[in-house]
Amino acid sequence: MADFDLVIRGGTVVTASDSVVADVGVKDGLIEAVARNLGPGSREIDADGLLVLPGGVDSHCHIEQKSSMGMETADDFYSGTASAACGGTTTIMPFAPQMPGQSLRAVVQDYRARGDAKAVIDYAVHLIVSDPTEQVLGQELPALIADGYTSFKIYMTYDAMKLDDRQILEVLAVARREGALVMVHAENNECLAFLSDLLIRAGHTEPRYHATARPMPVEREATHRVISLAEVMDVPILIVHVSGIEAAEQIRWARARGLKVYAETCPQYLFLSEDDLDQPGLEGAKFMCSPPPRDKANQEKLWRAIQAGLFDVFSSDHAPYRYAGTDGKLMDGPNTNFKRIANGVPGLEVRLPLLFHGGVGQGRIDLSTFVALTSTNPAKMYGVHPRKGTIAVGSDADIAIWDAGKEVTITQAKMHDAMDYTPYEGVTVKGWPVITISRGDVVCENGELTAEKGRGLFLPCAKPASAVPSGHLVTAFNPAAGRMQGAGA
Ligand code: URP
Ligand code: ZN
Ligand code: ZN
Repeated sequence: MADFDLVIRGGTVVTASDSVVADVGVKDGLIEAVARNLGPGSREIDADGLLVLPGGVDSHCHIEQKSSMGMETADDFYSGTASAACGGTTTIMPFAPQMPGQSLRAVVQDYRARGDAKAVIDYAVHLIVSDPTEQVLGQELPALIADGYTSFKIYMTYDAMKLDDRQILEVLAVARREGALVMVHAENNECLAFLSDLLIRAGHTEPRYHATARPMPVEREATHRVISLAEVMDVPILIVHVSGIEAAEQIRWARARGLKVYAETCPQYLFLSEDDLDQPGLEGAKFMCSPPPRDKANQEKLWRAIQAGLFDVFSSDHAPYRYAGTDGKLMDGPNTNFKRIANGVPGLEVRLPLLFHGGVGQGRIDLSTFVALTSTNPAKMYGVHPRKGTIAVGSDADIAIWDAGKEVTITQAKMHDAMDYTPYEGVTVKGWPVITISRGDVVCENGELTAEKGRGLFLPCAKPASAVPSGHLVTAFNPAAGRMQGAGA
């Protein structure tokens, strides 16, 4: 008679704080024991010589979502979650995107129906707020936050999505009152639009000019501005997809002031550079995302910022717009100028291997930091910890069994997403997941998806501790008092 449904035997169990050699016993989808010499399981996995990691939590990916210009992502919830699972990720957090004029509640209902029908691993949902009407701010958003949608993204750029400073303040005020976390895409829209128009008028239309139109100060200024708005409201924020060291320096500055400003970076800023955009023809479109990848020196500076603890979460920002075809990135065919090319690159499946290879493999970060950035921190940041993001008794049995010595050359043919390219084609990494387990079920084994469509569950998020105001700032505006005040005033 088996004691457990599953025993993972003799691996090195890594959490955000420790690495120990132990068995992991799983029962009814939960971790029941972490100890030596556990009793038998109905299924046993020999993990001798392997790492046993909490499954990855990818807290920024775009699945079954339209771009700001109306282009549909190649991945739906099935292919997106299949790809995540085969890359060692067991929880994703995509976005239910409100477009202007839409009811946020209706958008979420539709998005949830798609996720529930197709996801193979568990998922939480961030909101995108692009039309903060009275109805949205006063009713829909508070009700959705209470229902477990406790984080939302706002844009400072993209014509269809961007909020002005007043709207940002309004949204921040709701987040503060309701205990939600605001994620910010920080780029100065006027500046990048002005530069883009100048470049296009001068005939500089190729993808490489996307980077020219969005130099680091474009990101730095918006990052500083939204930090200042958040300081006025005394509300925490998270700056997503930080690409440049100059924006990172603004975050360091804010923290030195005692502000709760969190930061995310992504594989494309460590492994791609602006040189990749400079390809023959329009091939550079495959590397176009916003903010753009910077120069090679910036990559190393971001690594150092990771080592210094500046980044809280490492997400893919998987934005899977195909290259070829009428529904691909080149919407105007060979004449597509860079302003009309959908932004974003895929990366769900290779997020963990890339960071493992470049971080752990090259001695830049230790195993626990790798787990923290890719799993534990995002789970805590968005209110699904300790159910997700750790290997602990009572947590969901979401596990990536990892072969640190396995060399894989990344190629699109091996990916499980619905894309027609990967920007990391031909890159060889050392370290790859060999088995991925979600709530005790093996969902991917040796590159084969073994999960059924629709088995993934929606995860309602708790109001996260990350969103609690720091409360000690001198400039928080108190509408009841009708003045600026500090804590205790
Ligand atoms: O270029 C990017 N990052 N596209 C995806 C959408 C977004 O802004 O995150
Ligand atoms: Zn963004
Ligand atoms: Zn994104």
